[in-house]
Amino acid sequence: MPSPIFNDLPTTIFEVMSSLSRELGAVNLGQGFPDDPGPLYVRERAADAVLNGYNQYPSMLGLPELRAAVARHYNARQGLDLDWAREVTVTSGATEALASAFLALVEPGDEVVMFQPVYDAYAPIVRRAGGVPVFVSLQPPDFRWTREMLDAAFSPHTRVVALNNPLNPAAIVYAAEDLALLAEYCVRFDAVAVCDEVWEEVVFDGRRHTPLLGVPGMRERCVKIGSAGKMFGLTGWKVGWLCAAPALTHALAKAHQFLTFTTPPNLQAAVAYGLEEGSQWFGSMVPTLQASRDRLTEGLTREGFAVIPSQGTYFLNIDLPGSGIALADHEFAMRAVREFGVGSIPVSAFYEQDPVTSVLRLCFPKYDATIDAGVERLARAREALSTLK
Ligand SMILES: Cc1ncc(COP(=O)(O)O)c(C=O)c1O
Repeated sequence: MPSPIFNDLPTTIFEVMSSLSRELGAVNLGQGFPDDPGPLYVRERAADAVLNGYNQYPSMLGLPELRAAVARHYNARQGLDLDWAREVTVTSGATEALASAFLALVEPGDEVVMFQPVYDAYAPIVRRAGGVPVFVSLQPPDFRWTREMLDAAFSPHTRVVALNNPLNPAAIVYAAEDLALLAEYCVRFDAVAVCDEVWEEVVFDGRRHTPLLGVPGMRERCVKIGSAGKMFGLTGWKVGWLCAAPALTHALAKAHQFLTFTTPPNLQAAVAYGLEEGSQWFGSMVPTLQASRDRLTEGLTREGFAVIPSQGTYFLNIDLPGSGIALADHEFAMRAVREFGVGSIPVSAFYEQDPVTSVLRLCFPKYDATIDAGVERLARAREALSTLK
């Protein structure tokens, strides 16, 4: 018999909403992917590498040129001092990096602290590794943890804490003081932090992303996970990486070895080039995304929606009760896609316990026409559904 851990899982809301949007011809502001095809210089390099490059198994740990480029990128942009040869492992996306990390670090019975809203891959993989998820419930609009919450969650059984920063779906970029508080608990309880930082380059209004690995006390107890898919807006590429001190990397690489073993070499070569030659791309990506965020924010505000400001990621959230909508997020999202032709993601899908049902997530890296059509359809949905309970 299949294990109920995976067998009983529903299909993710992202897949459900994208299939429904395709089927119904709806404007899809649900799943997180951009309309833009991504930087040409990186795609051309990948095409060239497929035609003229090496297409056999690359090194299990990843192409040296990519591992070195990752270390240099983090040095230049986040001040980290990673030794690429001993501390960087290339994976097939952040998803595989997360699986490798949880499988390598969690023993049966270990507790893994994770913050709700939580990315949907974490808990099933932790459970499959025999771990026990311990949820901390963060609340809108600021989604911050407190000392009391951490006191209640950490115990002598805590082995790992899973942190997503910037946080999808909340669109929060955590400040140094929040990270320092979390680091204090990791050190006190001798826990390893698995830091899903796939959104690290997508932060707005002049903010800087602070990696937990760079916070005092965390250098040896942190696994930093990145994704080229998010850095270059090429979400289907599935090129990611794990960065950690050598003792941790040793175990992570062994897990990676039997999950995917390697990642397509041509895409790795293109990502390495993309990072090395990326000054123009990184200079333009955030202003472009920020303009789309602002367009969606302005449109929604004009139509009477209460918007929770987005500090980073591809996402912007609506406060439904504040927008005069009494329906729970899931029902509003389903009716909006079926009756008004606009796809969105209910934030309750990111909670396993005591869900917050008042917030709807929208994805904004879309062409202006897509954003405008989405706003218009959401406005019609609001008008029709705001009197319902
Ligand atoms: C928080 C978070 N982690 C991981 C991933 C998956 O990244 P990848 O496509 O590189 O596997 C995503 C994708 O949306 C994400 O939002």
